[in-house]
Amino acid sequence: MTTLVVASSQHGSTREIAERIAQVLRVNKGVTTVVEDTKDAPKWLATVDAVVVALPVYGGSLDKAGKAFLDTHRAELADKSLFIAVSGGSPELDPKLQAVVDAYGARDTAYLRGAVTEEKLGFKDRLLIKLAKGQFGDFRNWDAVEAWGKSLAAHGAH
Ligand SMILES: Cc1cc2nc3c(=O)[nH]c(=O)nc-3n(C[C@H](O)[C@H](O)[C@H](O)COP(=O)(O)O)c2cc1C
Repeated sequence: MTTLVVASSQHGSTREIAERIAQVLRVNKGVTTVVEDTKDAPKWLATVDAVVVALPVYGGSLDKAGKAFLDTHRAELADKSLFIAVSGGSPELDPKLQAVVDAYGARDTAYLRGAVTEEKLGFKDRLLIKLAKGQFGDFRNWDAVEAWGKSLAAHGAH
C-alpha cells in the first residue's frame, strides 16, 4: 500500500516539508510513499488509502491550489486516512484557519512553520510581507516535521 503526500507549494518550502514527511515514513516506518503536486496527485487517488496534504497559508487564507484539491476530492478523501499539514510564517495558526482545516475530517492535522525567503519572492510578495509586518526567514523545525511524519504510521499511513 502507498501513502500519497500532496505538496501544494508556491515557493518550494512546503514541498520540502512534504518530502521530509514522505522520507521518514519510508525510511523509519517502511511505508511506500509518493510525493506529488496538486496537479499530478489526483491520478493516484484510486490506488492509495492514505493521503497527506501539505499546504501553506497565503494572505490569511489556505493556499488556493491545496484547498481546491481538498474540496474537489472531498468524497474520495472521506474513504481514506487523511492528514493535513499547514505551513506558515506565523508562530501559530489562526484559529479560524484551524477550524477550516478541521472541517475536512482528517485523522490528524499539524501546523508546521515554513520559510519566507526574501530572495525567492517577487517584488509584490516582498511588499506584502513588509506591509503585513511579517518576518523573513526559514522557520522550519525539522525535528517537529519528522516527529509528525513518523506519528502518521500509527494512524493509518501504511
Ligand atoms: C505573499 C505571502 C503571503 C503570506 N501570508 C501569510 C499569512 O497570511 N500567514 C502566515 O502564517 N504565513 C504567510 N506567508 C508565509 C508562507 O505561508 C510561508 O512562506 C510558507 O512556508 C510558503 O510556502 P511555499 O514556500 O511552499 O510557498 C506568506 C508568504 C507570502 C510570500
